[in-house]
Amino acid sequence: TLTDLLMAALSYLLGAVPAAAWVARSRGVDIRTVGSGNSGATNVLRSLGKGPAAFVALFDILKGVLAVTLARMVDLDPQWVALCGVLAVVGHNFSVFLGGRGGKGVATSFGTVAALSPAIGFFAFVLAIFTMWLTRFVSAGSIIGAAAVLALLAFSYLVRLPPPWYGTAALAFLALLLIWQHRDNIGRLTSGTERRLGEKA
Ligand code: G3P
Repeated sequence: TLTDLLMAALSYLLGAVPAAAWVARSRGVDIRTVGSGNSGATNVLRSLGKGPAAFVALFDILKGVLAVTLARMVDLDPQWVALCGVLAVVGHNFSVFLGGRGGKGVATSFGTVAALSPAIGFFAFVLAIFTMWLTRFVSAGSIIGAAAVLALLAFSYLVRLPPPWYGTAALAFLALLLIWQHRDNIGRLTSGTERRLGEKA
């Protein structure tokens, strides 16, 4: 229906709002040229500090939560709700406001997953934060969090309590996309050149 398509477009546009790039620009910094060059909260932490990073992280999480919540509020079918959540992450990673570029979708994926499937979101979050704390690599924590989503999905099928197909499709897609977006980080992690949490840009 028209409402489905309008909400899908709105979700993409909401996700596309590049908080990291704009917050950095408001402070005279081009986020693409500092640190990892990534338009995300981790790189804002590196280049601008904790306050701006917390703001960007929260803003980007809310993009995912809001896309799902708004879609539910206008009573979209659950397949469309899941799609809207996914599109918020697609918007973040491939933003029309950044010429098709964007971030890696960690915060926004968390918002979407938490809104679609709170239990999986919670376990993935705990594992991600624990890995970040242990290794001091935000990228490693994010990748482990995504791997946890895939493992939890597999487990849910094993115990015969799977989410509906569109929940599985949305979560698996987001987890795989997140890992793909970290291909440069994976290269740096394996070559020992990845920046640790707290290392300045
Ligand atoms: O925020 C995404 C995080 O997992 C990695 O960011 O800047 O270290 O590539 P960054």
